Amino acid sequence: MYVLGIETSCDETAVAIYHADKGLISHTLYSQVQTHNEYGGVVPELASRDHIRKLTPLIKQVLADAGLTASAIGGIAYTAGPGLMGALLVGAATARSLAWTWQVPAIAVHHMEGHLLAPMLEHEPPPFPFVALLISGGHTLLIEVAGVGRYRLLGESLDDAAGEAFDKTAKLLGLDYPGGPALAQLAAQGQARYKFPRPMTDRPGLDFSFSGLKTFTLNTFNTSTKTHQDKADIAFAFQQAMAETLAIKCKRALQQTGLDRLIVAGGVSANQEIRRQLQQMSQKERASVYFPRPEFCTDNGAMIAYAGCQRLRAGQSQPLDIFARPRWPIDELLGLD
Ligand code: KG4
Ligand code: ZN
Repeated sequence: MYVLGIETSCDETAVAIYHADKGLISHTLYSQVQTHNEYGGVVPELASRDHIRKLTPLIKQVLADAGLTASAIGGIAYTAGPGLMGALLVGAATARSLAWTWQVPAIAVHHMEGHLLAPMLEHEPPPFPFVALLISGGHTLLIEVAGVGRYRLLGESLDDAAGEAFDKTAKLLGLDYPGGPALAQLAAQGQARYKFPRPMTDRPGLDFSFSGLKTFTLNTFNTSTKTHQDKADIAFAFQQAMAETLAIKCKRALQQTGLDRLIVAGGVSANQEIRRQLQQMSQKERASVYFPRPEFCTDNGAMIAYAGCQRLRAGQSQPLDIFARPRWPIDELLGLD
């Protein structure tokens, strides 16, 4: 079965076709970064309008790239949440309308489940069970994963998400939106001059909090002379603190669950220093760590098509309603049986 995947939850319009046996067939993406850049963050109404403009041409493009016509598509997967309401509705309405026209089932996919399953698109996918660290712009989640839809939340951020903390720190340092990759570039020129806190690592538990780290960064910046080197050193210290905090919590999660596999996904998992520290920690713990390729760490259609394919194959689908849920706890999802 060929599944068309549609992702429009935030500022990327992404479409892909995944085949249950042949794997990923084609994928494409349009990033709205330029549109939102001048505002220093995503403007929801502009995001929705841009999804409307781009989605249909991108669907035509993935079909053409795959050498398929619409009649080959056996199901449609779309991100139904969490995300921006208007942006989600564009994908949901388009997916639902196409499914009705083509007389195929449609399935609402949870965006973070998409991220969680993205490592399955790689050559050596991790077998279940495993611990998942999901680090994106809107969420920071540690989950014990027994199978698709079988999720036990171990910990989450009590305030800012990891990506949000990267973006806010980058903004403080005068970098363009989205700040994560720009901050990582600046950090590469930095040196170990400052020592930032590793929040909530001195007490038990698997929750995260990044607002204190953000304030510490702000105070350090305000008392510095604000030269390029100062900024690079602050970016370096921030990234180190973030990477080490994530590594400490993942180590704890592995020990607590007794599992020896860790998957890391979501936009922030593209960060090289975070990958390096998580790899190092996993090696010491004799655990294996899995990441998606960098382009599938950030938002993409392939992960939605993949997640939807698993659920459609298990016989799940959505009724005709156009379904969007801006807030949607991941542990409310159903398993496959
Ligand atoms: O998963 P994602 O593409 O979208 C959401 O679901 O939110 O994640 C986007 C987040 C942004 O905060 C972005 O700054 C961050 O991922 N990000 C990075 C890197 N690449 C993307 N953060 C740190 N280092 C990176 N290389
Ligand atoms: Zn995402």
